[in-house]
Parts: sequence; structure tokens; C-alpha cells
Amino acid sequence: MKLAHISDLHCARTYMFNEEALKKGIERLNEENPDIVVVTGDLTDWGIREEYEYALGFLERIEAEKLIVPGNHDERTDGYRKFERHIGKRYFSKVADGIFFLGLDSADPDMDTGHMGRELIGWARKEVKKAGDRKKVVFFHHHLLPIPHTGRERNILTDAPEVIEFIMENDISLVLGGHKHVPWVWNLNGVIISHTSSFGSRRSPVGNSYNIVEISDENVAIERVYNLSGKRERITDSQNTSRR
Ligand SMILES: [Fe+2]
Ligand SMILES: [Fe+2]
Repeated sequence: MKLAHISDLHCARTYMFNEEALKKGIERLNEENPDIVVVTGDLTDWGIREEYEYALGFLERIEAEKLIVPGNHDERTDGYRKFERHIGKRYFSKVADGIFFLGLDSADPDMDTGHMGRELIGWARKEVKKAGDRKKVVFFHHHLLPIPHTGRERNILTDAPEVIEFIMENDISLVLGGHKHVPWVWNLNGVIISHTSSFGSRRSPVGNSYNIVEISDENVAIERVYNLSGKRERITDSQNTSRR
């Protein structure tokens, strides 16, 4: 299966939002014709209705089916309710192309810190049983492990150890996230943990990009594509070690 992973659109009517880069990225992404698009949060800046409507206008241009979870910015200003109204459920599972996807909400209202919580981890533990022997992909907004050059804020889930335990105990193949706009991949005992850059914000040290993830029975291969230049970089595959 060919999956496109985008994150951190930050649709807002401010200088920080790079509309040109976002539109170009969507154009390229549609040309790739992915089977599914995973969106790991921060669709908006402040979680307000106007920004949700603005973001939806762009998301609707993406032709493939989208699986979307919220980020910390989306839950500002009581935004989690608007997420539910405009986008859908904040956490869910879905089978597509024989792969089991589990989307989780790692944000808390008006907090930048990520936190999954015992209730949601408990729900995930039950839900993941529905996967049977399908390959499993889990996605949420915040960092599961530290990522270099992402500052000194608390970007890692406060309950990361319990989430890692869940990931390792349930034979998850791939974890997708975003948050600090720094693309990075860790390989944790064969579990690929991949973060993509921002798809629409100028606030990224590497520029706007998205990832194309090819998932087969034996491998997960990731390629980064830059929105404006179209430059492509092979990032990793399951056999390789971690790298940026
Ligand atoms: Fe962000
Ligand atoms: Fe974020």
C-alpha cells in the first residue's frame, strides 16, 4: 500500500501559513495517487471555527481517503469540539487495503504537552484486537521518543512509557506523528517511528514536506518529498538504522 503522511498544516490567515507551499504539496500529493492519506494533527493554529473551515477547504482538495487526528493547536479554544464537528472522531480504527489503522488523540484542551491517558490507552488495547493478523499502523500528533533539534519544551507524551509498552506488546509495524515540524525516523526494535515536517507552516527548519510510505509484508519504506521543489529523498526502510 502507498500511504501519504502529512502533518501540521497550521491553516491560518497569518504570515506563518505558507498557502503556496500547501497548495503545491496537495497538487504533488494528488499526482502520487496514494491509497490513503494520514494527517497527524495541527490542521489549525488556534482551533477556532474560521480556521477549521479554512483547513477543510484545503483538505477537501486531497482526493484520496484521509485519516485525521487532532494536534495540540486544534484543541486550543475548545477546539476539540470543533474538530469533532468539522472533521470527525478524535480517535478511531479503520481497516484499509488490509492494514489496520489506529488513530489516537494525544492532545489535551489548551495544553501543548501531549498526553494519551489511561482511558485512551485502555481503549486502544481493546480496539487493536480487532486487527487480527493484519499489519498495524498507529498514528497520533506528539512525539513518542525524543527528536533532536526540537527545542526544550515537553514534546514527548507525558505517558510515553505506557504508550511504548502498548506499541511493543501489540506488534505495531509503524507509528506516525508530527508536532515540532522536524522530520525524523527512529527504528525501535523493528518498529518504525516516523515524524514528518510541517505541510503548511513557515515554522520548520527544513521546509514544507510530506512523506510517502510504502508498506509491504516485509518492509516499510519512507521517502520525503518537498512541497515546492518536488525534491525526493529516501529516508529509511525497515532494514536500515535510524536517520533523519
Ligand atoms: Fe505544529
Ligand atoms: Fe503540535
